[in-house]
Amino acid sequence: MKDKLLQIIKEAGEMLKEGYFSQKEITFKAKKDLVTTYDIAIENFLKETFAKEFTQFNIIAEESDNHNIEFKDSIIIDPIDGTTNFVNQVPHTCISVGVYKNKKPYMGVVYNPILEELYFAQVGCGAFLNDEPLHVSQDNDLMTSLISTGFPYTSGTCEDDLNDVMVKMKNILPNCQDIRRLGSAALDLCYVARGTYEGYYEMNLKAWDVSAGMIVLSEAGGKCTNIDGNDYTLFEDKYIVATNGLMHDKLLETLNLK
Ligand code: IPD
Ligand code: CA
Ligand code: CA
Repeated sequence: MKDKLLQIIKEAGEMLKEGYFSQKEITFKAKKDLVTTYDIAIENFLKETFAKEFTQFNIIAEESDNHNIEFKDSIIIDPIDGTTNFVNQVPHTCISVGVYKNKKPYMGVVYNPILEELYFAQVGCGAFLNDEPLHVSQDNDLMTSLISTGFPYTSGTCEDDLNDVMVKMKNILPNCQDIRRLGSAALDLCYVARGTYEGYYEMNLKAWDVSAGMIVLSEAGGKCTNIDGNDYTLFEDKYIVATNGLMHDKLLETLNLK
């Protein structure tokens, strides 16, 4: 499955690249949530091709109606993660595809065709960036850690979510090296996997934002939980907290300061 999967995603990457450098038609799904014709075209291409090639899997995809699709043997697609970056030509944007068997992680692919970076992981076989093995960083001190986060689209409409973002920022910022917000959850997880960031947290993500990056991270030696420190559950948890493992408890404790 691996070779075919990568071949198809690389083809979709050509579509993303073409769109990145072109004039785009944009519509709004919500106050801050953009979608372009390229999100739809890439998703349709991936869905059609995967359905033909990988008949044992159903497909859950961001721009589709997923109501009647049971998460089990599933391929979970985010056709463009980092759409705001894509629209504004910030080169931190990617295609994210997570493959699950009986709800258990199997393979994850995150592909940024602008920077030519392809992250791949298969459970039990390690994580790779363009075929080079990936490992999380060895820093166990929050004070010297570079932490990434993201801001939920609901920050424009839900005061509770906005307040929560600010409280957590106030807890973390004085206690870490610095904070980044690069705008793609899938790549944020891969950046923890490659040791660039020591940790990452965000609220209100959807399964397609993290389904692949989580597999890359865990195969690189990292850890993913919810805000209480329990395993992060796709489709259920509000918060994701992802680290190199070594400073996980410290990050959780600091995020949860009152
Ligand atoms: C978004 C990105 C962003 C995160 C948002 C996501 P999209 O995905 O991953 O970094 O902060 O919450 O929804 O909309 O670009 O696919
Ligand atoms: Ca996304
Ligand atoms: Ca998307």
